[in-house]
Amino acid sequence: MSGRIPQDFIDDLVQRADIVEVVGSRVPLTKAGREYKARCPFHSEKTPSFWVSPQKGFYHCFGCGAHGTALGFLMEFERLDFPVAVEELARSVGVEVPHTDSDRPSTEPLLAMLEKAANIYRQALRDHPAAVDYLKARGLDGETAREFGIGYAPAGWDTLLANLGTTEAARQSLLAAGLVIARDTGGFYDRFRDRIMFPIRDTRGRVIAFGGRIIASGEPKYLNSPETPLFHKGRELYGLYEARRAERKLERILVVEGYMDVVMLAAHGIHNAVGTLGTATTGEHLRRLFGVAGEIVFCFDGDRAGRDAAWRALQTSLPLLQDGRQIRFLLLPDNEDPDSLVRREGAKAFAERIGSSVPLSQFMLDSLSRDLDLDNLADKARLTALAKPLLAQLPEGVYRELLTGELARCVGLPRDRLAELMTGGGTQAQGQGQAQSQPQSRPREQKPLLPGMRPPTDRNAAADRRGSLSRQAISLLLHYPDVVGQIPLPDSLRSAGLRGVDLLCELHDLARSRSGVGTAALLERFRGRNELPHLAQLLTEEQLIGAEDAGTEFGHCLERLVVAAAQQELAALLHEAGQRTLSSEELTRLAELQRTVAASHGMARQRPDS
Ligand code: UTP
Ligand code: MN
Repeated sequence: MSGRIPQDFIDDLVQRADIVEVVGSRVPLTKAGREYKARCPFHSEKTPSFWVSPQKGFYHCFGCGAHGTALGFLMEFERLDFPVAVEELARSVGVEVPHTDSDRPSTEPLLAMLEKAANIYRQALRDHPAAVDYLKARGLDGETAREFGIGYAPAGWDTLLANLGTTEAARQSLLAAGLVIARDTGGFYDRFRDRIMFPIRDTRGRVIAFGGRIIASGEPKYLNSPETPLFHKGRELYGLYEARRAERKLERILVVEGYMDVVMLAAHGIHNAVGTLGTATTGEHLRRLFGVAGEIVFCFDGDRAGRDAAWRALQTSLPLLQDGRQIRFLLLPDNEDPDSLVRREGAKAFAERIGSSVPLSQFMLDSLSRDLDLDNLADKARLTALAKPLLAQLPEGVYRELLTGELARCVGLPRDRLAELMTGGGTQAQGQGQAQSQPQSRPREQKPLLPGMRPPTDRNAAADRRGSLSRQAISLLLHYPDVVGQIPLPDSLRSAGLRGVDLLCELHDLARSRSGVGTAALLERFRGRNELPHLAQLLTEEQLIGAEDAGTEFGHCLERLVVAAAQQELAALLHEAGQRTLSSEELTRLAELQRTVAASHGMARQRPDS
């Protein structure tokens, strides 16, 4: 994606995005006054020093200094490039990203190729009895095959190439869609050959990728499309489109591992299964699924690998378990998958298994106490210590309360006694890594300053007073851009060359340029600039002036900055006067400046606080 995204769009997007939602769906947040706090996701810590401010649309960690807007958080947390993060945020807000340039490679030709390829594969299935026989032998009926658009890629090297790759542009589209592979020696060949083809569809039902199962024996058993501009494995779920189409209101979704699991469950009337395409379940998967249904049931093999996968899924789920969301686990008997099981036992028995799947709380406690003896006090303490960091990842709410209660019951202790054990510290749970604790406190002193400014404690130095003046002005502008942006800046200030004032002017111009440019949007405008950390610092400090007084206070700052500018210019002119004879214009200016400065002394007497 190379097309430029209009700045206005980014301003609006960052303003509209709910930072509490964006952060909170990834990190469990606790409300603390007007802000939210959490243990910082960017460094290891035991006590929360990570704060999210919904008013400012801004997060900041007092421990490691991480900070930014909802957009910045997505980039850091999900490790996304800027344009991808913009797309992601736009998706969460429910808007489309416009692009100013037309040079962005359009995905339209890719989608068209994928659609045509799906048609060719479907037709080829009808023409290849051996492929049909394979599917029949696996118990698949024609109706289900049609529902999922299942097809067949013939054995040749150029089925798609010959049919669709008739121009160079078409061949490039086939390549970009992941349907053909470029030869080192030039030219292309079909990626999928002699395979049953499963089209992977996006939420709108458009084919964005394929999975292909080999018919004969051979490697790999399943071949998937590569990552393309349309297809990101960690995000897509096989069968989600079909599941939503089959049942308008999904209450529960089954997460299974394989294509054939999804398809065969559907063939038996169980239409709410989706497949993770051979990857671990990601947070992105889960957010997507929780957007559709309140309950997720993971169906994994009962073997070691399946249990490990289930545990990983549990860890990914914890921060997402807000009230109203549920997760259950169904561990299948050895050597069975949902496909084999539903064929052997039928839909009713499979549905019963789902009904008796274990809730996440039970799965967690069972897994943790697997090798423990809960009659033994030391092991009780150990279970508590293992559970503690996991419980801490749950958002505060009913679910966390419930799990804490179950843990108390499990170790046979009253809850207050458990609380003691919990606060008594303990070892880190498995799979949590060695969390290093860092001394955390919310620093009260104002440390970094705007470029070129010294600490405001040197109240006597004129330069510093100017520094704290422009600092305060910038802080007011950042906190209340709507109010403060309306107040015009005096022209004399712009040309004065006072430190910090250039930045003030730039921010003010931005705030004035459009109404509704908020704090987060202003910050985003400084992405990648040296000033950004200083702006972020101002936002982390409490602004004692409220919105009602922001305009007046800003006005006072400006008055005093104008005087400071006059003083500076006056000093420079007086210095010149010592070197040479001043021109008549300069002398006029000198007199003017002296009047301004003298008037300010009167002003200062009237307002002793200034
Ligand atoms: P399995 O090896 O468990 O196969 O892979 P399966 O789903 O039971 O397949 P059948 O029943 O033999 O046809 C589970 C899933 O892992 C991914 C696929 O998504 C598959 O459905 N996978 C597996 C691959 O991506 N590549 C492979 O080579 C194997
Ligand atoms: Mn299988």
